[in-house]
Amino acid sequence: MKTNPPQTRDGFGSGLGALAALVGSAVGLGNIWKFPYLTGENGGAAFVLTYLVCVILVGIPVMVAEHAIGRRMRQNAVQAYGGVVPGQKFWSAIGISGLLAAVLIMAFYSDVAGWVFAYVFKSGWAAFGGPALTPDTFGAIAGGTIEPLAWQFGVLALTTTIIVAGVSKGIERVTKILMPLLLGLLLLSALRALTLPGAWAGVEYLFRLDFTKIGPAVLLSALGLAFFKLSLGMGTMTTYGSYLPDKTRIVPNAARVALADTLVSLLAGLAIFPAVFAFGGQPAGGPGLLFNTIPLIFGQMPGGAWFTVLFFVLAAVATVGAMASLFEVPVAWLVEKKKMTRLMAALTTGGTMFALGILATLSPFFFNLFDFTSSNVLLPLGGLAIIIVAGWLMPKGGLADELGKGGAGTRWDSQLVPVFVKFITPVLVLLILLNSLGLVKF
Ligand code: PFF
Repeated sequence: MKTNPPQTRDGFGSGLGALAALVGSAVGLGNIWKFPYLTGENGGAAFVLTYLVCVILVGIPVMVAEHAIGRRMRQNAVQAYGGVVPGQKFWSAIGISGLLAAVLIMAFYSDVAGWVFAYVFKSGWAAFGGPALTPDTFGAIAGGTIEPLAWQFGVLALTTTIIVAGVSKGIERVTKILMPLLLGLLLLSALRALTLPGAWAGVEYLFRLDFTKIGPAVLLSALGLAFFKLSLGMGTMTTYGSYLPDKTRIVPNAARVALADTLVSLLAGLAIFPAVFAFGGQPAGGPGLLFNTIPLIFGQMPGGAWFTVLFFVLAAVATVGAMASLFEVPVAWLVEKKKMTRLMAALTTGGTMFALGILATLSPFFFNLFDFTSSNVLLPLGGLAIIIVAGWLMPKGGLADELGKGGAGTRWDSQLVPVFVKFITPVLVLLILLNSLGLVKF
């Protein structure tokens, strides 16, 4: 007689596969595009330090909370939060705000992803003797109409296809192989940039602290970036947590994801800023910083044109991994709650994202509005609610039980992180939010 498997939801096949998928969600345009450009706009080292503090004191605890809730509930984020505190269904609002954040993020993210894909082709063309990549190349793509929309559509269609193929098969396989390659290439870019004459000014810019530059806006941007970077505060990591095997030890796993992700960002910074200073550019170069600097870094190297192509290919892969995880939040909800087929759910999600994406692509106002509202408002508020649910409201022992699985029960890290979840992280997030509104000053 055949018996049905106890659990019919798709899941990550192995611990390493799960780690790869989580890193695949975290690493993306946030590291190579957003981290450098926000660092440039917020004055360098002061922003970097604030960001690192936010990752440790806020990012890791929120990720732990999301994984614990996701694995305990084994459901999409909306239903997971709706059921995690008995009798308090309204916490499903966290999941709903996450759906909104996913769509808002994807609207501008797919625009930038489109630029990356365009650069894959344009750098390839340049390597074969076509026109070189210049700031005008970027201006034409980012400021155009039909071209960026076509790239954006292509990117969304590709992600929809990957999502239809399923969680473990689609995402794990690609990231496991190509992520180390991206890290290697970033290392090469950083080494190249650091050996340019005048590069040291870029290193100082990244690491020489000037505390007077830390104000409410910098704090909020750094906090928002920590959430955005680690895919937190919107149910992505809750959804991924629901696919985590029981043997995964949540705390060290989350710490590894944060560490790997931060390493990629810092390497990107160490590639971009030394080159910016060496070539006499502006650190506050805005969203085009990545696109205008990378071709310069490889420009004078033997075979440099091909390294530029490889860089954008790997960036495109990292971008797709992150986008797949952004899709997963609405798709899991549409399949499990609205009983859609995976195909219909993916098409509905992709279609909605494209509809809003058109606005972001054609208007800088909407681009910035979607970015600000998601990273600096919805994600921190979602994170605050998540951490309160995990630290204070989950049925007694729930968090400790999840963190103790996989033989982690008596280890110090699994004992320490709940203290952050309960006391330190929520206070910090609240203070930064109030500070940005001018209600608290420090
Ligand atoms: N973490 C991704 C990046 O830094 O590129 C972006 C992202 C992915 C944000 C998934 C949120 C999310 F749910």
